[in-house]
Order: sequence, then structure tokens, then C-alpha cells
Amino acid sequence: MKLENINKEYDREVLRVDSLELNKGLIYGIIGPSGAGKSTLLRIINLLTSPSQGAYYFHGQPILKSSRELINLQRKMGLVFQKTLLFSDSVWNNVAYGLKARGCCREEINDRVGLLLDQVGLSDLAKRRADTLSGGEAQRVAIARSVAYDPELLLLDEPTANLDPYNIELIEEMIATLNREKDITVVIVTHNVFQARRIADKVIFIDKGEIVEMGSAEKIFTDPEYEKTRLYVEGKVIS
Ligand SMILES: Nc1ncnc2c1ncn2[C@@H]1O[C@H](COP(=O)(O)OP(=O)(O)O)[C@@H](O)[C@H]1O
Ligand SMILES: [Mg+2]
Repeated sequence: MKLENINKEYDREVLRVDSLELNKGLIYGIIGPSGAGKSTLLRIINLLTSPSQGAYYFHGQPILKSSRELINLQRKMGLVFQKTLLFSDSVWNNVAYGLKARGCCREEINDRVGLLLDQVGLSDLAKRRADTLSGGEAQRVAIARSVAYDPELLLLDEPTANLDPYNIELIEEMIATLNREKDITVVIVTHNVFQARRIADKVIFIDKGEIVEMGSAEKIFTDPEYEKTRLYVEGKVIS
């Protein structure tokens, strides 16, 4: 996926991206201070927010603004927010939702949902109502639901904020496994630089609506180009 000359204005400009290319099979970590524009960028990648201007390409093809094209593309992406919104229904039905909506047959749905719940360690809770889950369990269900229909791209906005270390580790393992086994490209927004360092191949550092620096996790964390990046990854206050 490629974004070119994207900008987003509300009452003022909150994001400006000259060029951003996301390559298949990698895990990207988006880091930066609160209000930097991380969620805005993720929502633009997901086509949930339309940019004020700019161009958007997927597999080299320009994406036009026809609603059919946008919806087709959106269906190739899974999106998970910090605050999970599950349907007030069983865990099983939550994970099955996207498959049912796409008209999959019952057998395929059963196989797929069973496997996913097993992978996220929630088989025992299949019949539980989603609104009775703990935060960590709910987030694991949300990820299972978002990858049930094999998206090419998984977008996560602070998926482990406020979770306990056990669930954070489980979720990071899930992300790594999905990436490795299914070749899903992942974009994860996190204000936890340690998390980005643990799981990302490439890190995008955003400040004040601009990409300050993008590079391999190794480079960003050990030898960044910019002083601002160095200060941020060292946990210092940047102005
Ligand atoms: N719907 C909106 N209307 C007006 N301003 C917004 C809206 N959404 C985000 N913003 C502003 O855009 C800036 C970037 O927000 P956001 O992308 O949520 O930052 P981050 O996720 O990095 O904390 C913030 O100043 C925020 O107040
Ligand atoms: Mg945000």
C-alpha cells in the first residue's frame, strides 16, 4: 500500500504524509506522543477517515473514491481498537460474524471459528457472552474476529493499552504468529516503545502530524537519524 501527499485537516492540519509505502509481510510499529496523529494515520490507511487530499494505491493500483472500491478494499483489512467493541452475543458468534456476513457455509464457519478460538486460547469460553469477558479476553476475541476472513492487512490501534502483562504477551505472540504463518502485514500503533521494539520490523515515528523518521526497528532504537527520535525512544520529553 502506498500513500502519497496525504493530508488531513480538521480545524487545523493534523497530519501530513508526503509518502508512505507499506510492504507485504512486514510488521510496522507507529510510535509517537499523544495527539501526534497516529490514530488519524491508521484510520486513513483503513479508509475509515478520508484524507483532505492525497492519493492512495493498493498493489500499485490507484484507489478511486467510488464506494464499492473502498468497501472492497476495506474488507481486505482487519481493524482493532484499544477499546474493543464486541457485539452483545456469544464469543463464538462474535468471531463468526464476518464469515457469516460474507456468506461462508456453516461447515467452513465452524472449522474456522473453532481453530481461531483455539489459537487465542479461548475455546472454553466459546459460549460465553462477550460482555462478561475480561479486557484481555475481549481483546483476543476482537483480534480473532478481525482476522477470521483472512485480511491482507491487520491494523491495531493501541491494542494492549491497559492490559496486564500476561495478555500483552499473548497478544504480541498472536500478532507475530499471524504475521509469520499467514503473511499478514501488520500496522500497530503503540505509545509503548518497548512493544514496538519487541514486535516491529519497521518503525514509523510521528510527531506533530508528520513522519519524523521511518526505519528498521534496529536503526530507530539504536542509531536514529534525528535527535528528536533518539529523545523519544529514550523516553525523554520532546517539544
Ligand atoms: N474528529 C476530529 N476532529 C477534530 N480534531 C481531531 C479529530 N480527530 C483527531 N483530531 C485531532 O487530531 C490530532 C491527532 O489525533 P490522533 O490521530 O488521535 O492522535 P494520536 O492517536 O497520535 O494520539 C489531535 O490534535 C486531535 O485532537
Ligand atoms: Mg490514538
